[in-house]
Amino acid sequence: MSRQAGTTDQVWPAPAKINLFLHVTGRRADGFHDLQTLFQLLDWGDELRFTINDDGRISRHCNITSFPENDDLCVRAAKLLQRRCGVNAGVHIDLAKRIPTGAGLGGGSSDAATTLLVLNHLWSCDQTTEQLASLGLELGSDVPLFVHGHSALAEGRGEQLHPADLGRRYYVLVFPKFAVSTAEVFSHPELTRDTRPVDLPVAALAAGGNDCEAVARKLHPDLATLMTDLRSWGLPRMSGTGSTVFLEFTDKKAANSAASELKCRYNVRAVEGVDRSPLLGLLSN
Ligand code: C5P
Repeated sequence: MSRQAGTTDQVWPAPAKINLFLHVTGRRADGFHDLQTLFQLLDWGDELRFTINDDGRISRHCNITSFPENDDLCVRAAKLLQRRCGVNAGVHIDLAKRIPTGAGLGGGSSDAATTLLVLNHLWSCDQTTEQLASLGLELGSDVPLFVHGHSALAEGRGEQLHPADLGRRYYVLVFPKFAVSTAEVFSHPELTRDTRPVDLPVAALAAGGNDCEAVARKLHPDLATLMTDLRSWGLPRMSGTGSTVFLEFTDKKAANSAASELKCRYNVRAVEGVDRSPLLGLLSN
């Protein structure tokens, strides 16, 4: 197996996602929930750099110092790939974290997916996309989405993906000051788990609802206040299990202008939806 050692200055993106709708259709025997959701990838996210070494060590530097290295999904992804493929080389990962954690934007999962895809290439592991997605699922339900790198309708835990072409879309993300624990929302006794599964294209047309929202609002009353306040700018929706709330706009100018009005009161960012992850283009070069 040939492997490249040394430094690479290449910056590898790890895009964020939002859920345009999220239906919880059942509780499974394995402790997870069955979902129907529409994942929209965004043109914004974290950035990673990888420096390969020959001694097998895996280490990470992050701009956010309070983020423990051993819990970091990109470190766990590198260790998993190294072990499964019998790789002798190691890597130092430099993670520029921009996506807030506990925000429902898939930041940790996207970092893990970028790590799997890039190290598969740099360590010459020769794993297929399907194999990487299956490895990724051991790390988190959203990792396969980012490994495949396409906006998608999803079922199962979120790993059964049907690529969706959503075209150009514009959003303003509003980041509350608190994080939401995904595990806490999914284990909450008041979570409704009985939305009737429908054919996914039909579900996409009926888009809008997020079954996790009521529980997230209950756990964080500030979220309910925020969503009420945002109504003057459009229909606020929550991504994943929260805490990020987003507004959709028909064009870039409208999104930018809402973001500039909202930024004096909230932490916001105007973003664009993308059908294809920017990572895929870099990997095919
Ligand atoms: O897979 P992930 O690490 O994102 O899961 C975080 C938490 O959310 C876990 O506690 C898991 O049980 C729950 N979850 C779930 N059903 C899903 C996805 C996540 O119950 N489809």
